[in-house]
Amino acid sequence: MKAEIIGNVQGFKQHDGILTIKTAEAEARVYIYSPTIIRINISKQHRETDESFAVIHQPLADFDFDESSAYIDIITSALKLRIHKSPLRFNFFTNTGKPLSADDERYGTIWQGERVITYRKIYEDEKFIGLGEKAGDLNRRGSSYTNWNTDAVDYTPKTDPLYKTFPFFIGLHSGLTYGLFFDNTHKSYFDFGASTDEQMSWFGADGGDMNYYFFGAQGVAQIIEDYTWLTGRMEMPPLWSLGYQQCRWSYMSADEVLNIAKTFRVKQIPADVIYCDIDYMDGFKIFTWNKKTFPKPKKMMDELKQMGFKLATIVDPGIKIEEGYTQYNEGVAKGYFATYPDGENYTGYVWPGRCHFPDFFREDVREWWGAAFTALTDPGVEGFWNDMNEPAVWNQNIPWMVKFGDKYLPEVRNAYGMEMARATYDGTRKILGNKRPFVLTRAAYAGTQRYSAIWTGDNNGTDEHLLFGQRLVNSLGITGMSFVGVDIGGFSGNPTPELMVRWNSLGTYTPMFRNHAIQGSKMREPWEWGEAYEQIIKKDIEQRYKMLPYIYSGFYQSAQTGMPLSRTLAIDYTNNEHIFDTRFQNQFMFGDALLVVPVISTELTADVYLPEGSWYRFGSDQIYEGGQIVNVPSPLTDLPVFVKAGGIIPMQGIVQNTNEAGDGVLYIHVWNGGEPNSFVYYEDDGTSYDYEQGGYYKRGISFDPARKMVSLSAVEGGFKSRFASIKFVLHGFEKVQLKDDVVENLTEEIAIEF
Ligand code: GLC
Repeated sequence: MKAEIIGNVQGFKQHDGILTIKTAEAEARVYIYSPTIIRINISKQHRETDESFAVIHQPLADFDFDESSAYIDIITSALKLRIHKSPLRFNFFTNTGKPLSADDERYGTIWQGERVITYRKIYEDEKFIGLGEKAGDLNRRGSSYTNWNTDAVDYTPKTDPLYKTFPFFIGLHSGLTYGLFFDNTHKSYFDFGASTDEQMSWFGADGGDMNYYFFGAQGVAQIIEDYTWLTGRMEMPPLWSLGYQQCRWSYMSADEVLNIAKTFRVKQIPADVIYCDIDYMDGFKIFTWNKKTFPKPKKMMDELKQMGFKLATIVDPGIKIEEGYTQYNEGVAKGYFATYPDGENYTGYVWPGRCHFPDFFREDVREWWGAAFTALTDPGVEGFWNDMNEPAVWNQNIPWMVKFGDKYLPEVRNAYGMEMARATYDGTRKILGNKRPFVLTRAAYAGTQRYSAIWTGDNNGTDEHLLFGQRLVNSLGITGMSFVGVDIGGFSGNPTPELMVRWNSLGTYTPMFRNHAIQGSKMREPWEWGEAYEQIIKKDIEQRYKMLPYIYSGFYQSAQTGMPLSRTLAIDYTNNEHIFDTRFQNQFMFGDALLVVPVISTELTADVYLPEGSWYRFGSDQIYEGGQIVNVPSPLTDLPVFVKAGGIIPMQGIVQNTNEAGDGVLYIHVWNGGEPNSFVYYEDDGTSYDYEQGGYYKRGISFDPARKMVSLSAVEGGFKSRFASIKFVLHGFEKVQLKDDVVENLTEEIAIEF
């Protein structure tokens, strides 16, 4: 396979907001999406239509450029792109001229057969973060990766690829930041100086265009904001999906489901969601119920509702080949399945045995799939768990000649899971009317945050996985996915009771808090670990519920700006070397105020790196000075969690599920600090789309140490808060009493001196 270099610029022109540059080999197109986002698309043969699963915005209609004999320069208010003509190279600078990222001088973009790779300069101090669900360390320098959505059974912290594809990373060097999103769904590759003796980094794919978006905003948070502007943001999730979720492969009957639900209520352990894994179906046929074990789904659902539970049911893409099964008959009759080139439906093996696979890339197929959810929504299901959508055929390859519409597998495999989640989301949203569906998917591509939450697949019940899982959650947050969970306790294997306790404590601070386990493993519910441990788990789950006002406001941030709930410290403390130290790389901010330290179950003290500033231990209010490593106790009853000085955390009293009214008090906790701070509090009905029409309650909470004041701005939005009064709780203030610590929750501004 010959290496074909891109060559010299032979000519260029601008039309319809595109700067088109021709070389002997290829054509490059330059688009501007905003002052901080520039797209380069290089191809030997551009398609007629410019398609993307990920991108939801259009480029600007026009832009200026300067030309000289050697360069074409495009300058925005934030960036300068210098295009070298001989040979063609793309080099990005801040608009004050500081180099951000550049093609490798010698090689730039090269084709070998259909494969296209761009080689880029690597800076001596350059670090890389991102790519979502990927093995290895927070700093990806020295590692290489492949994107090829895979049913990664029994994965380890070193396995690559895993289930998802997020070809977006952020580069950090010289105190500067940039982002790069390679929007190409073919099997793709990223190498951060791993195989080049650090001479260069490179990325590319087995086919398609060299199609990337360059982000030049300064600051990791700003780049995430731009990336999620381009690829979309999550909606407000249903509030119930943020409560505790209990899952298992499988609760085998309606009676078992109801018993589990009842036990939560009897034991007064809060919970909102219970799951049905594959065994609720008749012969694993999607959109059916097992008539023997789940004879009256509606009755079961009504009883669950009475107890304040929601149900989520699994759906897999594989449609069982069985004459008389509706989805099979309709799918065959209408030609809705993936095919061999001669038109025969492709057959692969999954749970039901021989299956066909819906072609989710077609709108009519997505609509058909979406409409079938009435089988689940009619009885009352509102949660839809999309699994095996890499797509998995017992972890084997699907022949590359298999077609999805006019495309072959290699081109679209990485987006299949996303398109299934999209079909599920669109369909159930339509059916449920003004109610928010909860969609969860295992496979995903960039942009999936618009449709679904994700979880990190079949992890293992080990301490190593607890830490690795947190790294995955933190990394997925960089790539726009805020609503992320791991199987608490580990899917395979049997965790020790201590690990189960520890993992539940971390679950409190995980965006999606779901306990799940493989078939044949020991039961995992909170009461399976002995009275003493049950009490600790119960307390952790109660803590989750107390924090829901804070967590919900955190998701509001994700919906508004793309800022994830679980944040690697690389977002707030980008230039602090310590946070990349492998001892501290799993630590994360949970929302604006909390720093959480995952600790394995066998360690009862922990070395923690606290960044600059003062920090309070959440719970005890013990104060620590930051900018140093501290060794702190981490008994199983108290995961090390710290509040940043000045931190503001709105909380509520304990409720058993998110439908319960509770005591009607919003507790606003404030921790003393030298700097003023503010927090955006957000509330809505938690279930409908009324918030899109102004049905929300939003107000700023401020802490001003100089004026000795905490205050709430006037309410924005037309929703009446579920809290009748507000109580301020101050921490770390010496002998200070609020003049008036409980106030009626009125809509005007409230300011209280201390
Ligand atoms: C897959 C899923 C797992 C599920 C199982 C049975 O392994 O990842 O979560 O329980 O299939 O449906």
